[in-house]
Parts: sequence; C-alpha cells; structure tokens
Amino acid sequence: MHAIDVRELRKSYPKKIPLPFRKVEWIEAVKGISFRVRKGELFGLLGPNGAGKTTTIKILTTLLEPSGGSAEVLGYDIRKDAREIRKRINLVAEGERTLYWRLSAYENLKYFARIYYVPKNEEKERIEQLLRLVGLWERRNDLVMNYSRGMKQRLAIAKALINDPEVLFLDEPTLGLDVQSAVFVREFIRKLVDEQKKTVLLTTHYMAEAEELCDRIAIIDHGKIIALDTPSGLKRLVKGEDAVQIRVRDLSFQGIKSLPWKLVIVKEDAERGTVTLRGHVSEEDLPKVVESLVKTGAKILSVEQKEPTLEDVFIKLTGRALRD
Ligand SMILES: Nc1ncnc2c1ncn2[C@@H]1O[C@H](COP(=O)(O)OP(=O)(O)O)[C@@H](O)[C@H]1O
Ligand SMILES: [Mg+2]
Repeated sequence: MHAIDVRELRKSYPKKIPLPFRKVEWIEAVKGISFRVRKGELFGLLGPNGAGKTTTIKILTTLLEPSGGSAEVLGYDIRKDAREIRKRINLVAEGERTLYWRLSAYENLKYFARIYYVPKNEEKERIEQLLRLVGLWERRNDLVMNYSRGMKQRLAIAKALINDPEVLFLDEPTLGLDVQSAVFVREFIRKLVDEQKKTVLLTTHYMAEAEELCDRIAIIDHGKIIALDTPSGLKRLVKGEDAVQIRVRDLSFQGIKSLPWKLVIVKEDAERGTVTLRGHVSEEDLPKVVESLVKTGAKILSVEQKEPTLEDVFIKLTGRALRD
C-alpha cells in the first residue's frame, strides 16, 4: 500500500461572472493528475504560483472535494473515509493562520492536544517533546504574537505533529521565512522522514529547496504533472546540455525575442537595471549569442557556464522560468 495514491484527480472552481451575464465559468485548477507517494518518502510538488499545488493538498487532506478522479491516503478513500484519514495525517497550511496569537506556544499546543484527544497522561510529555524538537521550549510561555515569522512556522509544525501523524502535508513550508529559519525548517523536515519515518508531501516553488530536500519531485504546471522523478533523474533530462547564464544591463525585451536561441529571464533587478538570462547554449554558439545580445543594445555584465539544475529542466519542459 502506498501512503498516498492519486488517480486522475481533477478540480474546477466556479468563476463568478458579474451580472447581467448570469453564467458560470469554470477554472480548471487541477487537470487530472496521478502520482503515488511511498511510505517514508519525502515527496515534493514543485511548481509556480497558480499551478494547483494548494488545491491538491486541500483535496488530499479532505478539506476540499475533488471534481473528478480519486485518491487514497494510507489506503483510505478521501471521499468516504475522511474521518479515518484525518486521524492519521496533519497539515501545515500556507501562511499559517490557525495558531492563536493571543495564547502562548504552550497554550496553543495544549489546546490542539485536546482537540486531537491526546491522552491526558501523555499530553504534558508530548508538548514538551515537540517544543524542544522545534527549539521553542525556552520561549514556550511567550505569546505567539511576539514570535518571529520563523518561530511561528516552527510552532505550526509542532502543532501539526501533535497527533503523531503518519503522513504530514506541508504547503510551502519555507515561504516568507528568513534564510536561517528556512534552513532550520528544511533540516527538520528531512529529519522527520529519516529519523521518525514519517511520510511527507510538501509543495514549493523553490527549485533549490525541492532539489535539496525531496526524494522525488513532481513538477506541476497549469494543473498538470509534466515530470516526475528523483532530483537526479529529472536533471538527466538536461544532462550534457550546458546551461549558460548571462547577466546584462539595458536589455531590450524585443531584442531577446528575435534571437534564434531560447533564453529566458530568470532574474530581474529593477534597482540596478540588470536582467539575468539563462538557457541552453552550446560552447560554439556562445560568442554568437553574446554578439547578438550586444547588437540589440544590451551591455553584457557576465557570462557563466553552469551545471544544469532543476531550473533548466523546468525551462526545457515549459519554455519558461520558474520565478518567485
Ligand atoms: N477558491 C478558489 N476559487 C476560485 N479559483 C481558485 C480558488 N483557489 C484557487 N483557485 C485558482 O486555481 C488555480 C490553482 O490555485 P492553487 O491551487 O492555489 O495553486 P498554487 O498553490 O500552486 O499556487 C489558480 O488559478 C487559482 O487562481
Ligand atoms: Mg499555493
């Protein structure tokens, strides 16, 4: 049995059209996706904003009904066995808002322990253990509203572990965190899988995070899975293709469109007026690419050859860059 088994899952949202038209249009957020997550696996859904990641997580955690297809979590059907699933899973939602900011960390966990019927004789020990695990034990009596964004997220994760779930769902767990907190959260997630044998499904739009953290990754775009493999398996799609990164100033956007090489913008620095382009360019073509860019009026600041990353996989599959 798989921890998660998703078959042809679909979700459409009604889009309200203002009067006087009175018709309903549908937005297809998830367009028939299938994947399986093994027990003890750290599985990532990687994709840009609006790809359908949150919708998928909401369906798998029984918060949202799918429009079509089916899914099982720990062998239980998401439509029929929601209660059984909810006992065995937990979720850290995007931009966590389910903590009580006017309560302390300790009081929050006590509250959620009661909601999950954690046996009274285990409650104290469980809460202490979790608070220590996420490094908040010393600050346990502080009100959550005085916590930093990173501390709130660590508490949200502790809260999600209160029922000792077999499967943990994390929606963009490091979104908006400072670098240090993000590192802590990533290492923590990896440890949950390696040491506590949890199954984790997380979503992210950070390439590097997915690559560094996940055992396998499904790349999702416009509601469809366009690739699914281990990080190294995915990178084999661009093996031997040199990734070239060129930083320029005064780029004319018309200019790059007219080039016969596919270069996509991976970064824009409005303040400095610089743009970073990336693409697959062979060594012999490189001087020509640079020359053509100069002809469009761009000033070349740097040209670097890079090891192909997941970014290049995404560019190859979609013709676009996956940007923040
Ligand atoms: N409640 C909703 N009503 C209507 N459209 C929605 C709703 N939630 C999400 N969408 C749309 O569905 C698509 C997928 O959204 P979402 O699952 O949030 O993507 P992601 O988490 O990958 O950014 C987007 O086009 C989004 O605008
Ligand atoms: Mg989302």
